[in-house]
Amino acid sequence: QNSKRMMVAGNWKMNGNLEMLSHFKSSLPVFENIDVVLCVPSVYIKEAVGANFSVGAQDCSEHESGAYTGDISLSMLAELGAEHVIIGHSERRQAYSETNERVAIKAEKALENGFVPIVCVGEPLEVRESGNVFEFVGEQLAAILNRCKQQLDKLVIAYEPIWAIGTGKTASPEQAQEVHAFIRSELKKSSELYSQISILYGGSVTDVNAAELFAQHDIDGALVGGASLKVDSFKIICEHA
Ligand code: G3P
Repeated sequence: QNSKRMMVAGNWKMNGNLEMLSHFKSSLPVFENIDVVLCVPSVYIKEAVGANFSVGAQDCSEHESGAYTGDISLSMLAELGAEHVIIGHSERRQAYSETNERVAIKAEKALENGFVPIVCVGEPLEVRESGNVFEFVGEQLAAILNRCKQQLDKLVIAYEPIWAIGTGKTASPEQAQEVHAFIRSELKKSSELYSQISILYGGSVTDVNAAELFAQHDIDGALVGGASLKVDSFKIICEHA
C-alpha cells in the first residue's frame, strides 16, 4: 500500500441531477486521510459545495473572458467554489479535438488560478496493441510538464487508458502500475517533487477492483466514472483508498 495521501475523484460526466446531488451530500461521510473530490457538471458546482467532499469541474476555458460562447472560465468556476478541474479527459480530446498543447495550456492556467488540475493522459487500444504506450503517454506528459514545471507539486495526473473507459475492461493492476511507474520516472526528470505528485488510475474502477489497484506502488488513487454515480459504490472505493 502506498504511504502517500490518496485521492478519489468522481467524474459524473454529463450525468446526475439536483436530487442525486443532494443524496450524495447527505450520504458521503468525512474521509480524514484521503482527498475526496466530486467533479460534477458545472451547473451543479455551487449546489455541490459545502459537503464532506471537495468539488471539481470537468473542463475549463483557457481564456479569461470574451467571445467564447458556451465556455466557462476558471475565475467563474472558482467563484462557484470549485477547487479542482479535470483537464484533457480523453472524451474532450476526442470529441472536441483538444490537442496536447491545448491541454497543457489549460493545466498551466488552472495552476495559475490556484486550482488543482487533474490532467488526463492515456492511450487508445490501437496504441496499446502496437506496443507504443510509453511513447504515446510520454508525448502527452511532455507537453504538460513543459508548461507546468513551476508548480508541479500541485498537479495531479490521471492515467486513463481509453480502452478501459466505460467498457468494464479495467487495466490489470500490473498493466496500470507499469504505466504509472513510467509516468513517475518521467516526472522525476522534471521535478524533485516527483514522488509527491499524485497519479490516479481511471478506467472501469469499481468497488470490487479498487483495492487491488490501490495496492500498487505508484497508484495514488482513482478517477472514477460510472461507479461515482452510485453513492454506495463510490463510498466503498473511498474506503479502500
Ligand atoms: O474520468 C473517469 C472515466 O473516464 C472512467 O470512466 O466509467 O470507466 O469509470 P469509467
